[in-house]
Amino acid sequence: MKKHIIVFPGDGIGPEVVGQAKKVLVKAAEMGGMDLDMQEFPIGGASIDIYGVPLKDEYLKAAKRADAVLLGAVGGPKWDVVEPSIRPEKALLALRKGLKTYANLRPARPYPALLKASTLKEDVIKDVDILVVRELTGGIYFGRPRGIKEGKKGYNTLVYARKEIERIAKKAFDLAMLRKRHVTSVDKANILETSMFWREIVKGVAAGYPEVRLDHMYVDNCAMQIIRAPGQFDVILTDNMFGDILSDEASMLTGSLGMLPSASIGDRKGLFEPIHGSAPDIAGKGVANPIATIASVAMMLKYSFNRVDLSDVIEGAIERVLEDGLRTKDIDDGTGISVSTEQMGEEIVKRLGRTASQTGSGKV
Ligand code: IPM
Ligand code: MG
Repeated sequence: MKKHIIVFPGDGIGPEVVGQAKKVLVKAAEMGGMDLDMQEFPIGGASIDIYGVPLKDEYLKAAKRADAVLLGAVGGPKWDVVEPSIRPEKALLALRKGLKTYANLRPARPYPALLKASTLKEDVIKDVDILVVRELTGGIYFGRPRGIKEGKKGYNTLVYARKEIERIAKKAFDLAMLRKRHVTSVDKANILETSMFWREIVKGVAAGYPEVRLDHMYVDNCAMQIIRAPGQFDVILTDNMFGDILSDEASMLTGSLGMLPSASIGDRKGLFEPIHGSAPDIAGKGVANPIATIASVAMMLKYSFNRVDLSDVIEGAIERVLEDGLRTKDIDDGTGISVSTEQMGEEIVKRLGRTASQTGSGKV
């Protein structure tokens, strides 16, 4: 059956990296006998410029009907206004909420060829394989009341319902069962009631997974441990805001923010996007790293279409291109071959066929 994919390129480097990811997706689908149909719509600042709103209702509805959604990035100084309803980021939140993709998976695993690209020492990061499981449709990002009151105060609400914590915790434990069976739940339970509640519920869910080891860690300590000894983590389970921050931090273990993909899943649909932003400073220069978005497409094949074979083919091609020394600016230490965004995409496409016969790890 034909798979229907909605593509939102977005702002800044979004269209450049999405352009390459689409090429890779089309080629991989062709190789795997998958029938694809892609439709593209503006989102974020690009949509504000045309329609005056960050995401048209009609496009959100289209996304809800699709089999999966691919997104580049949104935002930029041009749309940096105080009114939240007309900020590009609003579209992203509306999409995540609308698609009910409450579980955001952000894997951080350094590619062997890039061990030297990290700002951290090679022996600190060499065995790193972390999966951040970030709650994505609740917490302080969505809590009410929120607002700015008459120039006197600004406020947001951190709130989690039992069922929201239960379902994200279950996802984390299910994923841990496929990995090293270790969950570190990250919170601020020494000060926040929401976190105390979170901890209790996570413990309850853990009771159903006797094979999984559960630790609890305060977020400040976790931020430090990710840099000090990242090898100790397997699955990091955390809320929306802590997950946002810790996943950016974890990305640096892999050498660049430009390497980290993400899959946002719920009970049905998936939304796939790189974890990086729109990087307006380098937009249009052809220097952005498309690998995070290409790896997000690999996650789409795995989580939305159950095609681990094709996802492995893409992962293999990424590994190969890096082993061959090809480097976009962000991961270029001067010893490799410098390539543009487009060249990186093309070189990955070329290597898809070559890796097809090898099977990857199939890891989450
Ligand atoms: C991310 C981004 C978004 C977030 C922004 C752009 C709203 O930082 O996906 O990590 O905070 O979730
Ligand atoms: Mg972020």
